[in-house]
Amino acid sequence: MKAVTSMFAQTAARADFLRRGVLSAAAAALLAGAAPHATAQPEAEAEELYDPVAIHLYWRQDPTTTMLIDWQTLEDQERDTVVQYRPTGTEEWSTQTGDTHPFPYSERTIHRVELTGLEPGTKYDFRFGEDSMDYKFRTMPEDATRPIRIAFGGDTRHSQEMMERTNYQAMLYDPDFVAWGGDLAYADGREDRVDRWYEWYDAIKNTLITPEGRVIPALVGIGNHEVRQFFYFNHADYEETDEFRAQIAPYFFGLFDWPGQPGYDVLDFGDYMSIIMLDTDHANAVGGTQTEWLEEVLAERQDVPHVFPVYHVTAYPSHRAYDHQVNVRIREHWVPLFEQYGIEVAFENHDHTYKRTHPIRGGEVDPSGVVYIGDGAWGVGTRQVHDPEETWYLKRAESVRHFILGTIHDTHRHFLMVDEEGNVIDEYPETPQPRWNGAEAGED
Ligand SMILES: [Fe+2]
Repeated sequence: MKAVTSMFAQTAARADFLRRGVLSAAAAALLAGAAPHATAQPEAEAEELYDPVAIHLYWRQDPTTTMLIDWQTLEDQERDTVVQYRPTGTEEWSTQTGDTHPFPYSERTIHRVELTGLEPGTKYDFRFGEDSMDYKFRTMPEDATRPIRIAFGGDTRHSQEMMERTNYQAMLYDPDFVAWGGDLAYADGREDRVDRWYEWYDAIKNTLITPEGRVIPALVGIGNHEVRQFFYFNHADYEETDEFRAQIAPYFFGLFDWPGQPGYDVLDFGDYMSIIMLDTDHANAVGGTQTEWLEEVLAERQDVPHVFPVYHVTAYPSHRAYDHQVNVRIREHWVPLFEQYGIEVAFENHDHTYKRTHPIRGGEVDPSGVVYIGDGAWGVGTRQVHDPEETWYLKRAESVRHFILGTIHDTHRHFLMVDEEGNVIDEYPETPQPRWNGAEAGED
């Protein structure tokens, strides 16, 4: 796979994926220079239409028939918590009301409306009242007969610019949604760092909306930088209660209704995919209650073709020490369950690098094992990696910001890793290199 990192091979790989239709029409529009967040409003009216300061779409129920819409108002803005929506191409708006929540340590208000009873695989227009800009979303399809694309990653915002750069590259592939496994805004639960959340929401507003105004949903998990003192065990008075968890992770539980309390959950997409968002010792212990829950969740989903655990601290680190207590606990409590219940790919973060492990089973490289992909460098400064040649479990490791594009299609899946410049840096499973590629590089 060394050849993939050469400029020639990167270009060839990108051209190859273009030929195979991985890039979408929306991506083509972006490549042609359209602004990613330009909406279809008439220019003269644009300034007069209401446009919220932040919009975040995600789910807490069935992603094929619901949509959870959060938006925010500033201190001096009075708005009803109402969303109007209609299938794109139809005339009549439906109306749904919701509720409001205080933005922790801020004068902002979070408005939250959940739309239910939607049609699967359908594009909808939505707006925040009659005087509002129109946006769009798409419900997830009820099966995976069309390719479904998910941008995975974590560790999203050391700076807004870094986050936006990777967002932009991810958007070129027209993902159905993104899934971030913790370390989101780096506010550490601190009141004096609320601005970091504003930047995080700004980055979403600037770069996770397509040229036609379709907002890309973003699922989030908890990481150490969502929590005061980073880990629950650093709080001597820790209690396994909603109140305590909200107290040590005020933004995570204050801003997001999924996963919500206790801080981990599973989301089922039809019967084709489940995403399990886990908590690596931040507001909940890895072992005990969470591990018992995980075993039930995995046992109930043995017939689901794509089950993806997403979490923050790694089982198999690419930068940090192998014997750190949290990494050890994940390997003790979760890895045996992943192996037992046939998980094939798990997404890890936290180390600020790119990594992909060999398939691992029983603490050894084994073709029937689990591949751990990620390491959390969506929008953060990168760190040095362990040398894969000298690290038994690492297949690849590189100090590079990136996202992971998962494509699932029926029972098939493929992962393409793309850096913030748009270069393809890795893929899994690997495509055999065409003969002309090697010949051009002088290797034939
Ligand atoms: Fe982290």
